Amino acid sequence: MDRFRLDVHASEQDIVGNIAEDVRKGLTSAQKYLLPKYFYDELGSQLFEQITEQPEYYPTRTERSLLSSSARELMERVHPREMVELGSGSSYKTRVLLDAASQNGGLPRYVPFDVSPSIIESSAAALLNEYPTLDIHGVVGDFERHLPEVPPAGGRRLVLFLGSTIGNLRLDERRSLLQQIKLLLDTGDRLLLGVDLVKDVATLEAAYNDEAGVTAEFNLNVLRVINKALGADFRLEEFRHNAHYNHDEARIEMHLMPRSHQTVSIKDLDLTIEFTPEETIHTENSHKFTRETTGSLLEEAGLCLDHWYTDPDNMFGLALAAARP
Ligand SMILES: C[S@@+](CC[C@H](N)C(=O)[O-])C[C@H]1O[C@@H](n2cnc3c(N)ncnc32)[C@H](O)[C@@H]1O
Repeated sequence: MDRFRLDVHASEQDIVGNIAEDVRKGLTSAQKYLLPKYFYDELGSQLFEQITEQPEYYPTRTERSLLSSSARELMERVHPREMVELGSGSSYKTRVLLDAASQNGGLPRYVPFDVSPSIIESSAAALLNEYPTLDIHGVVGDFERHLPEVPPAGGRRLVLFLGSTIGNLRLDERRSLLQQIKLLLDTGDRLLLGVDLVKDVATLEAAYNDEAGVTAEFNLNVLRVINKALGADFRLEEFRHNAHYNHDEARIEMHLMPRSHQTVSIKDLDLTIEFTPEETIHTENSHKFTRETTGSLLEEAGLCLDHWYTDPDNMFGLALAAARP
C-alpha cells in the first residue's frame, strides 16, 4: 500500500485569489500591512529554514532541545497513534517526537498540514525514508480555513503547533484557531503548543536582526511573492528590513521601510500605491507569551493546560493541553 497521500485544499488558484484580496486590503489600509502566510513560497520556506540556523535565532534550537528532554515523558503521558502538525514546515523538530514514539510502540501515522505544498512533499519524502513503518497523510491548506479537512483520527491524536507560529496571529485569530483545534481533539487527545516566552529585549531583537541578513531577506521576499503573483513592480532594494520589540503588545514587529518616496504599481489589482519613507509596511508580528498568558489563551478557547514544559532559562514554553469536556 502507498504510504504517502496528499490532500490539496488550497489550490494555486485559491491562494492567488486570496492574495489579491488580502494585498489590496493590506496596502490600502492606514497602516499598510501584509499577511505573514505570504512569506512562504518555495524560496521563503528555504529562507525560514536558514533563519532557524542563525546563531542569534534561539527559538528553534531551544524548542528542539526542550522537545528532546521532554519527548519520552510526553509519549508516556499521551500514547499517540497519530500526530497532526499544523504549519509543519520541514518537520525538523518532529523527528525528536517520532524517535520517542518509536521507542514507545511506534507511531502509525503523521499528518503534516502546511500552506506550502513543496515543503510538505520534500519533508514527507525524507521522513518516509527515515521511518520505514510510518504512513504520511499530508494536507495542503490554510490552517485558518481548512482545519475541518484534517482526515478523521486514526487513533489517539497529538496535535502539534510548534515554532511559536501561533504568535504570528492576532488575538482574535489565535482564539478562533484554538477553538478550531479543540474540534480536532477527542477524549485523551492532546495539543502540544510551542510558545516563545517574554524575555530581555536585546535577546529578542537580536533574533530577528541576524548579522548575516537572512531575516531581512525573508522579510523582503514577501515583495517578490507579490511581484510574481500579482504582476507588481516592487524594487526590493528600495526597502529596508526593520524588526523591533513593542513592549505594550509584547511582540516583535517586522516592517519594511521604504528608502525613498516611490510609486509601485500592482497590475493585476489595477492599483498604484505611493510610499513615503515615513510609512512602513507591517509584515509580521511575533507575539511573546508567559505561562499565564498561554494558560488564559487556552482557557478562552475551551482548552485547559495539562502540563507545562520549559527550559532552565525560561526562553521557550511547550504547553500540553486538552479539550475541556
Ligand atoms: C514559522 S514557520 C514554523 C515551521 C515549523 N513548524 C517550525 O517550528 O520550525 C511557519 C510554518 O507555517 C506555515 N504556515 C504559515 N501560515 C500558514 C497558514 N495560514 N496555514 C497553513 N500553514 C501556514 C508556513 O508555510 C511554515 O511552514
